[in-house]
Amino acid sequence: MKSVFYSHFFILLPWILIVIIMIDMDTKKTVRRTAHFYLSHFGKPQRAPLPTIYAITPTYSRAVQKAELTRLSNTFRLVPQFHWIVVEDSNARTELVSRFLARSGLPHTHLHVPTPRRYKRPGMPRATEQRNAALGWLRLHRSPKDSGVVFFADDDNTYSVELFDEMRSTRRVSVWPVGLVGGRRYERPLVEKGRVVGWYTGWKANRPFPIDMAGFAVNLKVVLENPRALFKRLGSKPGMQESDFLKQIAKVEDLEPKADNCTRVLVWHTRTEKVNLGNEPKHWQDSVQIEV
Ligand SMILES: *[C@@H]1O[C@H](CO)[C@@H](O)[C@H](O)[C@H]1NC(C)=O
Repeated sequence: MKSVFYSHFFILLPWILIVIIMIDMDTKKTVRRTAHFYLSHFGKPQRAPLPTIYAITPTYSRAVQKAELTRLSNTFRLVPQFHWIVVEDSNARTELVSRFLARSGLPHTHLHVPTPRRYKRPGMPRATEQRNAALGWLRLHRSPKDSGVVFFADDDNTYSVELFDEMRSTRRVSVWPVGLVGGRRYERPLVEKGRVVGWYTGWKANRPFPIDMAGFAVNLKVVLENPRALFKRLGSKPGMQESDFLKQIAKVEDLEPKADNCTRVLVWHTRTEKVNLGNEPKHWQDSVQIEV
């Protein structure tokens, strides 16, 4: 009795599905949704796991630090398969950043390395040691088996979530426009037939890679294949860090343009206005001590 019921049921099932689909034919949208439903429930295609995005953020203690990190973390929480490498310019990990990272819920690695005092001068490149510490960590803790994309996410920028979708497909080194840099509304690689052929830039156009730190990503395997590729102090002037680093791992003609052939701005060098703390008391006056 039971088996008769089942055999009838299985004969009828395809017809029932066809009827449901016919009813759905009214609007294309519904059909697509239905197809998606059936595929996702019955098709289960095996998808390759997404490459992890490793965002390297050098940071240092200052009045706006937590506000900046908050803006970043709120974006990063919307990015799947994401790993945040935060490197403090300090002798030890600070409590503020440790607590902040723990509360963020983001997968992260918290490093620290102090900038030697002799390099802490205006006109000196910033965050060199911190970026290199992060590269060192990746080379020690990741292997060619791990698929990933490395991106330098300074804490004074604003990132669109879409930027991470774009960079995730980086095969070797990818590039895209950056807003509000170089004394212009934006800078960008000029693209012809899908290849980078030049640069729209307001500053030192003769650099081999006249690009902002926020304007490129590197596949993890390229970082691992070039163990000596680092950000340089010696012989590197401010604004040459990106160019000097990219020279070690890429050729202009091999750059992969992202963001619709470099026609969309998905990251902005916003920078936060210097805060006025002119009325901050010299000695503690409030009844509680709060972290800002
Ligand atoms: C970029 O340009 C190439 C060559 O002109 C073209 O084939 C490709 O579709 C473009 N890509 C996008 C995302 O617009």
